[in-house]
Amino acid sequence: MLKVAVLVSGGGTNLQAIIDAVNDGKITNAEISLVISNNKNAYALERAKNAGISAMCISPKEYETRENFHVALTETLKNAGVDLVVLAGYLVSIPEMLVKAFPNKIINIHPSLIPSFCGVGYYGLKVHEAALARGVKVTGATVHFVDCGMDTGPIILQKAVEIEEGDTPEVLQRRVMEQAEWVILPRAIDMIANGKITIK
Ligand code: GRF
Repeated sequence: MLKVAVLVSGGGTNLQAIIDAVNDGKITNAEISLVISNNKNAYALERAKNAGISAMCISPKEYETRENFHVALTETLKNAGVDLVVLAGYLVSIPEMLVKAFPNKIINIHPSLIPSFCGVGYYGLKVHEAALARGVKVTGATVHFVDCGMDTGPIILQKAVEIEEGDTPEVLQRRVMEQAEWVILPRAIDMIANGKITIK
């Protein structure tokens, strides 16, 4: 049974997709054992509690130094004995010590087809604003392993989404979440839980 921790910062719709996929059997051999947010007001924490999942806030603001925050986050995850860390709308940069503690055991969902519209400064609505500004006809989402870079680790799954005439960033974000993120993130977790992913 793969023990999964999910890191969140906001509304938690990706977390909800994972919870729902476990409950309806789309994800097997895995359980969400812990949800951590950097934001104590994140609705994602409510979603975790409603699902009976242990939920906690570990905020950089609570620590005197960034290093102390990094140690607290890393030690909490190691002590929890999780096998996989899932970044689901988590907006805090992942420290090298966490990547080293969980080599190829951290995955992230990014709301574009990497290598487009990713890297420093590309998160949330900004990703969709950039796609619309560039005039691309297709965008989508990517699940990738997290390495010490920003959105640079090995790609696991991608799913394309059509951009439609008159799309606003908000409308496009919602379509990418519904048609891509909420599909490929649970699928990637199920593949990992069932030994279907190897890194070449
Ligand atoms: C969304 O922009 C999503 O694309 C990205 O994080 C944001 C919030 O997602 N991954 P969630 O609703 O908190 O899962």
